[in-house]
Amino acid sequence: MDQDTIDLVACDESHLDGALRLSREAGWPHRREDWAMLLSLSHGFVALQGDDVVGTAMLTPFGDTCATINMVIVAASTRGRGLGRRLMDAALEACGGRECRLIATAEGVPLYEKLGFHATHEIRQHQGIPAPLPDDAAISAMDLGWADPAEFSAVVELDRLALGMDRRPLLKLLAESGRIAVLREAGQVVGYAALRQFGRGEVIGPVIADTPEQAQALLTFVIASRPGAFLRVDTPEWERLSPWLAARGLAAVGGGIAMRRNQASPKPIGPAKPFALASQALG
Ligand SMILES: CC(C)(COP(=O)(O)OP(=O)(O)OC[C@H]1O[C@@H](n2cnc3c(N)ncnc32)[C@H](O)[C@@H]1OP(=O)(O)O)[C@@H](O)C(=O)NCCC(=O)NCCS
Repeated sequence: MDQDTIDLVACDESHLDGALRLSREAGWPHRREDWAMLLSLSHGFVALQGDDVVGTAMLTPFGDTCATINMVIVAASTRGRGLGRRLMDAALEACGGRECRLIATAEGVPLYEKLGFHATHEIRQHQGIPAPLPDDAAISAMDLGWADPAEFSAVVELDRLALGMDRRPLLKLLAESGRIAVLREAGQVVGYAALRQFGRGEVIGPVIADTPEQAQALLTFVIASRPGAFLRVDTPEWERLSPWLAARGLAAVGGGIAMRRNQASPKPIGPAKPFALASQALG
């Protein structure tokens, strides 16, 4: 088997079954629908050996300034022969001059470092079926609820201030395929949390708020809406959220290394910041 016989082509719907097989082999929980959602937001690349998908990578642009690279997988039998680098080169070419972000597995870090990425922080993954939540008077007194469609623009703006990139197309998809909860103060949206089907169950994220207390209130509201459901939260604020999540039955099960390349876009303006990711793929 010669690596030269492996072609890189644009990923389309017809490659998703092969891509799904690769992610399952890598132990990732994505469903076909999760791949399809990512592809709808991304430039996808697949490595084909004959008709077999033996590698994948996606570049998800967020406006002209930022992008994420995700779903970088090479079939175990073809690893260590330069295919990961070829897929990354294709994704980086599609990235152009944008700042590029990704969440790396330990296996991916050496490849990304060689391509100019540097680690910025750690992400922790929590998941499980939460125990029934105790009443919390402080949270009950807060103005929490499902977002009104008229609040969507406020959610997008809050997200932009927290992340420093425009994720409107992603947030539109999340609003259509899932639900968005908001925290209001004096009638204004000051935090939000999205909920959608993903992998083995459902993901809560992004969660954007000013403070850990606000993030916990949003998480409490969303968790209470899904009794008995298997929920997942990926948090960059693990120092402040991990003990809280674990105490509610969402055990720490792993994580990833957040990395950046070509960091050029304006810094987030805040004070809102991310307490949970949309996913490790999308940041
Ligand atoms: C990470 C992964 C995509 C790498 O694919 P690959 O085809 O084996 O990588 P390549 O052969 O192109 O290697 C690219 C470079 O990274 C280096 N590299 C790759 N894996 C490495 C490792 N585990 N340790 C040290 N260096 C490594 C190679 O030496 C190579 O360097 P070079 O170009 O200077 O020779 C592959 O191991 C994989 O699919 N892992 C499982 C899924 C995963 O974790 N993906 C990363 C998601 S963030």
